[in-house]
Amino acid sequence: MLTLLNHYGPFSGFEFLVSTEVSMRQVSTIQAGRALAVAFMAAGALAFIPSSVLPKSRLAANVARRGALRMDVGEGGQKLAKIEQLKIRSDYLRHPLSEELDNQEIFLGTDAIQVVKYHGSYQQDNRELRKAGEQKKYSFMLRLKSPAGEVTPELYKVVDDLCSEYGQNDLRATTRQCFQIHGILKGNLKTVISSIMNIGSSTVGACGDVVRNVGCTPAPFTAPAYAYAREYSKIFAELFKPQTTAFSEIWLGDDKAASVEYWKGDIEKWDVEKIRGHDNGHGVLVKNKVEPLYGDRYLPRKFKISITVPGDNSIDLYTNDIGLVVLTDKEGVLEGFNVMVGGGMGRTHNKEQSFPRAADHLGFVAKDDVFELMKCIVAAQRDHGNREVRMNARMKYLVHNLGIDGFRGLVEGYFGKPIEPWRPMQEWKYMDWMGWHEQGDGKLFLGVSVENGRIRNFENGPQLKTALRRIVDEYNLSMVMSPAQSVIFKDIRPEDKAGIESILAENQVAPVESFDPITRHAMACPALPLCGLAITEAERTLPELTRKLHGLLEGMGLGEEQIITRMTGCPNGCARPYMAELAFVGDGANSYQVWLGGSPVLTRTAYALKDKVKMPEMEAFLAPIFRMYKEERQEGEAFGDWTWRVGKEGLLAKLA
Ligand SMILES: *[C@@H]1O[C@H](CO)[C@@H](O)[C@H](O)[C@H]1NC(C)=O
Ligand code: SF4
Repeated sequence: MLTLLNHYGPFSGFEFLVSTEVSMRQVSTIQAGRALAVAFMAAGALAFIPSSVLPKSRLAANVARRGALRMDVGEGGQKLAKIEQLKIRSDYLRHPLSEELDNQEIFLGTDAIQVVKYHGSYQQDNRELRKAGEQKKYSFMLRLKSPAGEVTPELYKVVDDLCSEYGQNDLRATTRQCFQIHGILKGNLKTVISSIMNIGSSTVGACGDVVRNVGCTPAPFTAPAYAYAREYSKIFAELFKPQTTAFSEIWLGDDKAASVEYWKGDIEKWDVEKIRGHDNGHGVLVKNKVEPLYGDRYLPRKFKISITVPGDNSIDLYTNDIGLVVLTDKEGVLEGFNVMVGGGMGRTHNKEQSFPRAADHLGFVAKDDVFELMKCIVAAQRDHGNREVRMNARMKYLVHNLGIDGFRGLVEGYFGKPIEPWRPMQEWKYMDWMGWHEQGDGKLFLGVSVENGRIRNFENGPQLKTALRRIVDEYNLSMVMSPAQSVIFKDIRPEDKAGIESILAENQVAPVESFDPITRHAMACPALPLCGLAITEAERTLPELTRKLHGLLEGMGLGEEQIITRMTGCPNGCARPYMAELAFVGDGANSYQVWLGGSPVLTRTAYALKDKVKMPEMEAFLAPIFRMYKEERQEGEAFGDWTWRVGKEGLLAKLA
């Protein structure tokens, strides 16, 4: 079967097709195509290659053309996304940010806004404070990078202080296992970022078209598989860190950071620089002294990697560009990893060419080859990801267009050998790791559920910020950020349990067992008032809704039912709504697209059942669905599995 991958204005005379059936036999053709591309680049005559000189293999032709496009930026009339040209002009993420940081304005210009993302920051403005004819109330969101979600007590204290002094006095625990500080004024950015760098943390690559914070199952078990997951997520964080020196130049000037990044201590035995620089001769590295892996245009779009162990899908693994599962032998010795590729959440309303996607199983890789394979996958996306249409730039579209077998063939071209088949594993479970657990070495860990990730002192409510700080001050505990926007304290001595519980109780922080099961597993994105893309509310609306939904279920005798529920203020999908069993995606003022059918273990994408359901009508809309679920489900069948089995058309017919 042949699929039309793309065609472009200047190229519309030749429609380049790509086979979705790429096998190992074709890998050599791919390589031939890439070699050809290199030759073309050398000739510098790309834009107008007549189809007659292109090789017979359409795949090779496609590869040649794409390789060529990469080299021909801004010439030959290709419709490159503007941001691609900006990346080159930035000279490895410097300009025009460095100039504009020191000017008198309270905001950055459009180009500097793009560059500052790579430094971990988004420019925002409080949309509720906008007034006609007045300057917007600009501020900056700063996102830290914390590989495997780990945060030291020293770092937590600094971040807690910074958000009080320079932010809006709260912290946001994100779905990517890191903290965000909101509300920083431009004039304070240098102080805040340099403080973070000096305590051995970083904001580098927390945003932007690079490998983002590397996720990991947050459960701090000492069991070998869990320990490997943490170790490798830190190695990957280092491996894919942008190499430009722009970050320290801009934020620290001539100084060096006072401490090296704290996670480096855990991977000292690895020579990551050597791993990064190793050239297997198949085009994984580009000829670029500054960024040998990324090149001067970095990746087409953000890139997410997470790791977990068999059976533990607390991490929402299927939403990542690359998801890895640690496989050990019976003695707990690492054998390698199962690898999945091509997950991603973002979409745009009314644009069918954008869609959420759950990752496909790529195969297994032995531990000695894992770094090379990871580099190969990133290189495949670097060279073949869509840099013309930003909406389709995530790797999920490349995997979708090629099919998983075609994509595997593409990666094998870089890898230089076949990828082994995916190994069978135990079934997935979803757990949030909240509450008390034994971690395996006599110590305990405690997951503190943070509603929608917002750590602050609530008026007439939990003094969560105070409580967490006191625990860190008094017990010097490290934290792990959870992928469900909560925090886990680890390495707790059993004799400290009572003291920690009383700090939480004194500050009215409820134990997770007291949350109803809908609220406990609910997630919302920040949305209004700060997110520029928000169409409507999320974080400020969801708590009331989940309580109502739980009440509704309770009234039907379904009070114990756990339904993974998520809400976002726009289709971008920051709280991973499309995996949930029940999700609300903002599509108008106070109105939501309702999604159903995600799996209770988060392995497939849901379907949109209905657009534009107004919030006041939400309970009335869902009540009949809950009732049918109660009456028609099979024994033990989860809500998401039932709605999936009935399907969109079936459900609409029942509702009609
Ligand atoms: C607190 O814990 C960190 C490690 O997490 C350690 O480096 C530091 O020395 C501890 N501080 C005290 C006062 O015990
Ligand atoms: S999902 Fe949309 S509204 Fe929510 S934080 Fe992300 S971009 Fe903003």
